[in-house]
Amino acid sequence: MLKRTHNCCELRLEDVGKTVILSGWVHSYRDHGNLVFIDLRDREGLTQLVFDPQVQAQAHKNARQLRSEWVVAASGKVRPRGEGLENPKLDTGKIEVIIDKLEILNTSKNPPFEMDNAQNVNEELRLTNRFIDLRRPSMQNKIRIRHRVAKITRDFFDENGFWEIETPMLGKSTPEGARDFLVPSRLYHGHFYALPQSPQLFKQILMVSGTDKYFQVVRCFRDEDPRADRQAEFTQIDVEMSFVDTDDVISVNERLIARIFKEVLNVDIALPVKRMTYKESVDNYGIDRPDLRFDMKLKDITDIAAQSTFKVFTSTAENGGIIKGLCAPGGGKFSRSDIEKTLTAFVADYGAKGLAWIKVEKENDALVLKSSIVKFFTPDQQQQIIDVFGANEGDLILLIADKPDVANKALAPLRSKLGRDLGLYDENVFEFVWVIDFPLFEWNEEQGRYDSLHHPFTSPTEEDMEKLDTDPANINSQAYDLVVNGSEVGGGSIRIHNPRIQEKVFELLNISKQQAQDRFGFFLNALEYGAPPHGGIAFGLDRLVMLLTGTENIRDVIAFPKTQRGQCLLTDAPSAVDQAQLDELNLRMQKHSHETEDSQD
Ligand code: AMO
Ligand code: AMP
Repeated sequence: MLKRTHNCCELRLEDVGKTVILSGWVHSYRDHGNLVFIDLRDREGLTQLVFDPQVQAQAHKNARQLRSEWVVAASGKVRPRGEGLENPKLDTGKIEVIIDKLEILNTSKNPPFEMDNAQNVNEELRLTNRFIDLRRPSMQNKIRIRHRVAKITRDFFDENGFWEIETPMLGKSTPEGARDFLVPSRLYHGHFYALPQSPQLFKQILMVSGTDKYFQVVRCFRDEDPRADRQAEFTQIDVEMSFVDTDDVISVNERLIARIFKEVLNVDIALPVKRMTYKESVDNYGIDRPDLRFDMKLKDITDIAAQSTFKVFTSTAENGGIIKGLCAPGGGKFSRSDIEKTLTAFVADYGAKGLAWIKVEKENDALVLKSSIVKFFTPDQQQQIIDVFGANEGDLILLIADKPDVANKALAPLRSKLGRDLGLYDENVFEFVWVIDFPLFEWNEEQGRYDSLHHPFTSPTEEDMEKLDTDPANINSQAYDLVVNGSEVGGGSIRIHNPRIQEKVFELLNISKQQAQDRFGFFLNALEYGAPPHGGIAFGLDRLVMLLTGTENIRDVIAFPKTQRGQCLLTDAPSAVDQAQLDELNLRMQKHSHETEDSQD
């Protein structure tokens, strides 16, 4: 076999005259009768090969059989491309290799989709034929960047005194609030391992063990429905540190993120990254992960609206609701039916009962409001609305009257949608923010108890510790999330290290002593033996790579992902198993369609 001397992205004008050997896949094939041109591809790039019967008749003849994705090795001489034939899009675009020997290493079936055009290919086809899909340069680039991120992370933490320690995949349920994947035990019938939703308790136990600084690039499993930025099986950069406060954790971790963005994209992130309180974020953006690439803040105009004569607004205000909205620059161009059909339906999906709209126009040099509801507002109230929103000619004011929670939950995605639709931001900008001062608990209306906003191991702030007994609803936690362009890429907290406080928090979460013992007894026991103060964070590695590669599809940054329906189309998992395997595990299936099919064959 011809052994390659260079990769397919290596040769330049300086190499002209050299005899080289290249190996790779036939990316494209042009037969000009006289000459055959092949773009040969490997993971690094493309190089043009030329076959000329005058130079080597046999190689030219062999080249005419080649088809897409055949695997070849070829030797020849580097020469400059002819005048006007250079390809500025290719790194190797100034040269070509005139081939004297061709070795066909393998043939290929006709690929199920074109390599250059896969953006328009049905994703199921891509996932089923992932080995071909991953050959595409844009996919190889994403996988390469993913590798870079993991490598930079490991180097960074090593340099800063962190140890990478593996924690079990077969374990006990961890409380991140999602559903567990369970693995039945063969040795203990009726008992199950749970796959980790995160290494949370193990990393805390490592702190009790004196590890001091831990990190791990680790797979986590959460049996939730996959979404555009969520997989059931995903990867965290998981971190925990001893004897630290919030500033310590934030400082080292934002340096990691800055290093990743610098090394991968050559983007400088100004440190320290700015911080925003949870309250500021929810007030201004309706959500705890604000997209700061554009302004368009939400405004609460309950005070003004309550004075109007518009029934929907006045009755909402009387019943403890709010009237809140945004002013979309340039949104005045939307037609009435755009607003009343598209936008109203959009917010309805998030639970809003209506969407009031007001166009801002100019008449005789003065701003005037146009809408069917303007008549319910005095001229003075109308001016107040213009002022609050800082509205300008051509803007569109959109308002929702509802419970605060409902209004925010609908306005936040509306703001994102309008930001995108109206082109309010530069796609290539990264806006980082730490969201801090989260409440420790949120009230769960349905169940009549508190839930943790992060997880039950998050510490209250020192100042609020005493409110555990008196005013749990108003305790701030020492939690922090890193948000980039509206995506939560990481989150963590300073933990509770005092077992009495941990017990108290479980109590407030309505977890009984017995339940706490059953679920986390091992951890509570460890806390009794000299747990140091500690805290940490976990980043979603997949989400970071999504940002770095500019994709909105998490499946594009995972070599072998699952579909929205949780399947691996390449291997056809999940799949049925043999009866013998079930017997060994002492599991019996209820009759259902899969089983009837299987038991027949
Ligand atoms: P959390 O649950 O916030 O915290 O997860 C940390 C980060 O992981 C990413 N992430 C996901 N990415 C893809 N698919 C998913 N299903 C998914 N779920 C989460 C997000 C998120 O910010 N143990 C704590 C961390 C800590 O307190 O140290 C934890 O797991 O980017
Ligand atoms: P109606 O009185 O139902 O004809 O509604 C008049 C306008 O108020 C329409 O534009 C509705 O979309 C809007 N509207 C109704 N309910 C709400 C609400 N809860 N919040 C904001 N606007 C609303």
